[in-house]
Amino acid sequence: MDKKIIANWKMNGSLDSIEKYLIKIKDNSFSTESFVFAPPYPYLSASRSYVKNIAAQNFELFESLTGEVSPESIKDVGCNHVILGHAERRKKFNETDDNILLKAQKCITLNIKPIICIIDFKSIDIIHEIIDFCIIAYEPIYAIGTGKAIDKDDLYKIYSDFKNSFPNSYLAYGGSVDSTNVNEFLKITDGLLIGKASLNADFIINVLNNCTY
Ligand code: PGA
Repeated sequence: MDKKIIANWKMNGSLDSIEKYLIKIKDNSFSTESFVFAPPYPYLSASRSYVKNIAAQNFELFESLTGEVSPESIKDVGCNHVILGHAERRKKFNETDDNILLKAQKCITLNIKPIICIIDFKSIDIIHEIIDFCIIAYEPIYAIGTGKAIDKDDLYKIYSDFKNSFPNSYLAYGGSVDSTNVNEFLKITDGLLIGKASLNADFIINVLNNCTY
């Protein structure tokens, strides 16, 4: 599989700023095949007009619950990826690996690729049966939004050990990826999940245009 550059926009952006961002990326990147854009729900549909790979940042499995969004709805507006179990949701909404496994299984039946965020490798005990169908994004808590990314040698070891155990898996890294570390991290891993730095179109264009490893 190609390296994936996943832009996690969290609650950022407006229709206008997102359209300008995506037009700039489309016009200046050699290829957007590797790019996966995860805007807030209201902008998913508009974003799909500009780039092929769109990710929702969550969905819910309940049949009818006020204020939540179903997997069928995100599929309907063109999502082919979904971020599940981000550390922020694990903390604020008590999301568990058991629940994330159920959500990921649902995605797989709908042909939506789950991007499962893990903060440590204990999660793998629960989700191991679906690993080969997912993107696993390892995001150590200390690195998320802090400007303190993982040490590249540590990441290399973690990645190698994981691949030895799960040779068909796809392991991405996230947490304070920026212009100082992006090239090294991209060389080591299968992809990157990027928060703050992904808001900058020039940064993403640069990464996509160097994404030839
Ligand atoms: P960051 O966020 O790149 O701003 O650290 C990563 C994330 O929350 O997924």
